[in-house]
Amino acid sequence: MIELIFATNNEHKVLEIRQALPEGFSIISLREAGILKDIPEPHPTLEANATEKSTVIYQLTGKNCFSEDSGLETEALNGAPGVRSARFADDEPAYTSNTDKLLALLRNQGNRKARFKTVISLIINGKEQRFEGLCTGKIAEAPLGTGGFGYDPVFIPDGSDRTFGQMTLEEKQEFSHRKKAVKKLVVYLKELVGS
Ligand code: IMP
Repeated sequence: MIELIFATNNEHKVLEIRQALPEGFSIISLREAGILKDIPEPHPTLEANATEKSTVIYQLTGKNCFSEDSGLETEALNGAPGVRSARFADDEPAYTSNTDKLLALLRNQGNRKARFKTVISLIINGKEQRFEGLCTGKIAEAPLGTGGFGYDPVFIPDGSDRTFGQMTLEEKQEFSHRKKAVKKLVVYLKELVGS
């Protein structure tokens, strides 16, 4: 069993990634690893923030670990909220006010194209590798559904007419940016262990 520390305390993300990993790999969250530190995300890109988080945990523990940083990018707002997705409305992360702000900014906006992006930074045997996953779609006129987290109730992935918030986790995984990045991570890990 290969154990990886996942540098997050977001239980939704832990659940989504745990469900996506094949047998032979296990992940433990920061809390489970006994790390109560809040890791900063000070950089202007998802890539740099992901690297920062995995590096901090690797320096703290010396163990194999990975982090992920995700964001929602809209075309009409030139990529916003992007790297600011968690703190779009306020410096304190709050899911409802973030979606309210996004819907307000896109009111009467014809172009509702958006995409979720995930960047995973893996540090294994002291070496970093990054993996990216994208999910294109559009922003709904109003929130629909109560599933998932964050912007899920307002994001409709291409190929569906429902929001992520209206989907089960299994249904979301068919489209998920995070799942796509994790798939690349898994391919890499499998090659590493030669299976
Ligand atoms: P971070 O990756 O923890 O910095 O947070 C990124 C923010 O993007 C989250 O707080 C959510 O608001 C949003 N986000 C990232 N992935 C998803 C997703 O799968 N569904 C909905 N919102 C997401």
